[in-house]
Amino acid sequence: MQSMSAVTARVRVEPIVDPDSAAASQVRALRVSPEQYRYIGDPAFNLSDTLRDPKSEALAVLADGIVVGFYRLDFAPNAVVGRSLGAPSVGLRAFLIDHRHQGRGYGTGAMTACCDDLRRRHADRALLVLTVNCINAPAIAAYRKAGFIDTGELFRGGSAGPQHMMLHSLHPHPTP
Ligand SMILES: CC(C)(COP(=O)(O)OP(=O)(O)OC[C@H]1O[C@@H](n2cnc3c(N)ncnc32)[C@H](O)[C@@H]1OP(=O)(O)O)[C@@H](O)C(=O)NCCC(=O)NCCS
Repeated sequence: MQSMSAVTARVRVEPIVDPDSAAASQVRALRVSPEQYRYIGDPAFNLSDTLRDPKSEALAVLADGIVVGFYRLDFAPNAVVGRSLGAPSVGLRAFLIDHRHQGRGYGTGAMTACCDDLRRRHADRALLVLTVNCINAPAIAAYRKAGFIDTGELFRGGSAGPQHMMLHSLHPHPTP
């Protein structure tokens, strides 16, 4: 696996609004390894489900202009964790980097770009929240490297086992 320091590609994120766009069909072609589908489900379904939901946004992750990943932003009140976090939040769901592009720092880079994009386009949101399966070590590593904090709170009952709740501050200068 290539280390993060070897990455030279520029990672950026781009909203998808048109299901017939080139970016949308590239997202539908994304794949993860067989054991990873339990964490995210089917990318094509996730894209169409996101585009159907007026409270969600679909985002493509691009590395040097090529679509390598996808995520969903869920702006519904209480999204992802089912309760208020005491500050306006947005939920991250269905995040993936195509298996042919994993391990190159794109996951970490995508989360940094995601936070920058939220600060620019949704400055009213103070927190980005997600849940991640406790056994999903690469995802937890990528989220930590991108600055997410593990709240210590566990969610049980998911089909792939218990999940950590993680948060990222979207304030321009987070307090240490
Ligand atoms: C999670 C995911 C998006 C990370 O993307 P990525 O591009 O591979 O992430 P990065 O390259 O930025 O790697 C992040 C860290 O995880 C580490 N890592 C990779 N595989 C690992 C493993 N099996 N165990 C532990 N750490 C691992 C990497 O080494 C890297 O740390 P490093 O830079 O210090 O070496 C990607 O693995 C993926 O799409 N997984 C399937 C879907 C999924 O689980 N989504 C998350 C749902 S919450």
